[in-house]
Amino acid sequence: MLNPIKLAKNNFLSSSDISKEELIHILELAGEFKNKKLSIHCKNKVLGLIFDKSSTRTRVSFQVAMSRLGGTAIDLNPNTSQIGRGEPIKDTARVLSRYCDALAIRTFNQSDLEDYAKWATKPVINALTDLEHPCQALADFLTIKEEFGGFDNIVITFIGDGNNVANSLILCCALLGVEIRIACPKGYEPNPLVIKKAQEISKNKNFLEVTNDPQSAVLGANVLYTDVWSSMGEENKQEEKDKDFNGFSINKSLVGKAKNDSIVLHCLPAYRSKEITDEIIESEKSRVFNQAENRLHAQQALLACLFA
Ligand code: CP
Ligand code: NVA
Repeated sequence: MLNPIKLAKNNFLSSSDISKEELIHILELAGEFKNKKLSIHCKNKVLGLIFDKSSTRTRVSFQVAMSRLGGTAIDLNPNTSQIGRGEPIKDTARVLSRYCDALAIRTFNQSDLEDYAKWATKPVINALTDLEHPCQALADFLTIKEEFGGFDNIVITFIGDGNNVANSLILCCALLGVEIRIACPKGYEPNPLVIKKAQEISKNKNFLEVTNDPQSAVLGANVLYTDVWSSMGEENKQEEKDKDFNGFSINKSLVGKAKNDSIVLHCLPAYRSKEITDEIIESEKSRVFNQAENRLHAQQALLACLFA
């Protein structure tokens, strides 16, 4: 039986907070949880959820993961707690650390998340910021591993905005030695500091290609991945971004250029007819609901390691 190992870092703020070995271990553990081969008890452990943005998958999968581990999750809605009134992060973090055993935080600025981690005395988990979505990436790689049996010779093409989801994918690809291509319109490239970090991690300097041409980026790809064009907090940019991302939809013609055994991923929620067509998301190529389910197993594994 696999036992959860304690991670070297106390927090999970970025995909780069874990090593390749730790990432592989979390994915293995997640697989065991999924196949009901493993049952770990974290009785009395409490996870606090602080979500400054909406969420279905991340919130519920964390709640269910805690329940399956034998613990509890508390949803600290900023509107009904003093967080929404503007209580300083350094006070909230210190107080909640005295009640909770870990905090999962979804917010805008990575620096606010880092502030929570600085003041909290318990593990802090990134449940999505504008910069990264590392819990999503765990589920993504679990889905890819299930499909292809591993990561050897896998090529991932991400088509869309080079922000949080893409940034965490790049960092995980660097850790695992997987080739990734990002196809985005000019001006929507991934964060340069993330690219720099990923290049430092990766042994293969050519693992990442950033291009403005989705047609060439999908040639020979095993995984096509997309995300919404306008992220949470960008509602006022929607019209402009819809124009900028014209031609960056995953549709039948684009999927036809990828490998025959290719699969399609989307972190969800999706805007059908924008970044992906209804036909493709409902097609036999789509693994989006397995991917969404895997959020639960991957986070259960992450929590088991953070509590180990
Ligand atoms: N993929 C994802 O994070 O979904 P939610 O916004 O519903 O949590
Ligand atoms: N990029 C998207 C991801 C949603 C899970 C957003 O930040 O809204």
